[in-house]
Amino acid sequence: KLFKYKGTVLALDYNHDITPGYIDSIRDFKTRDDDVFVVTFPKSGTVWTQRIMTLIYQEDFPEKAKQITYDQMPWIEYREKNTDYNLRSSPRLFCSHLVEPLMPRALQGKGKVIYVMRNPKDVMVSYFHFSNKMKNLDSSESYDELLEKFFRGEMIGGCWFDHVKGWMTNRDKYDILFLTYEEMIKDLRSVVVKICEFVGKSLSDAAIDEVVQKTTFNHMKEDPLANYEHLPETITDVSKGVFLRKGTIGDWKNSITVAQNERFDHHYEKLMKGVNLNMVWDM
Ligand code: PPS
Repeated sequence: KLFKYKGTVLALDYNHDITPGYIDSIRDFKTRDDDVFVVTFPKSGTVWTQRIMTLIYQEDFPEKAKQITYDQMPWIEYREKNTDYNLRSSPRLFCSHLVEPLMPRALQGKGKVIYVMRNPKDVMVSYFHFSNKMKNLDSSESYDELLEKFFRGEMIGGCWFDHVKGWMTNRDKYDILFLTYEEMIKDLRSVVVKICEFVGKSLSDAAIDEVVQKTTFNHMKEDPLANYEHLPETITDVSKGVFLRKGTIGDWKNSITVAQNERFDHHYEKLMKGVNLNMVWDM
């Protein structure tokens, strides 16, 4: 079910052109100055940021404003068959879960990156529920099982530690804004303003308020498109929950045991030594 290639792991499905050839070709993808890539490790707030971006740019997509956010802002590595992203008109928005070495080389000069991180323990808990719901992913019976997968990078996105380290240590090569899921929870409006400044969009106060209002957890949960309710039953089991599950900080405290938490901290300290993330989350 999983496609593992050069440090990334993708979920296989029928609609996308997931091949080594396509993934390699992303390296040579020609970016433009006004391209924006939202890059994340899965379950870190991708769809949330995707929705914020498509609302900030809604003037640029008037005819598509009510369409699926995925169409306006696709994941570059999950290319729909027979689609050519070179033909998309500017400004182009993309998401990606790719590790830094697989991203377009041209992005180191043309285009911007917004990298969103989340407390890895909450990422793991979110993934636990997500992988049990998605038919094209391997579910886990227990957190003990998922912890091992998380440490070995056997989940979509690959290894969280490598992902974050790769983007942090190569940050100087990119025009990049780092955000955290936690700061989005704590002060969404400030984050929306920060994104607008970074991408050079000047929105009125009222327009910013509208973006904030439409991207609160409750609003997105009630919006079938934002909640990804259009995913086909062949890949998702709706009886096992919805995409917008809980949307909180620190759900790991309700989910993993003291011993599992200690194991996690041990790995974190070993693997993240020397990487100063300046995390706003409480480990
Ligand atoms: S994916 O599958 O990788 O694209 O998942 P991703 O979008 O990165 O992460 C899903 C988690 O983000 C939560 N989410 C939100 N939280 C707060 N506010 C808003 N608006 C919001 N939208 C999505 C979603 O609920 C998942 O987290 P959990 O902890 O499972 O609830």
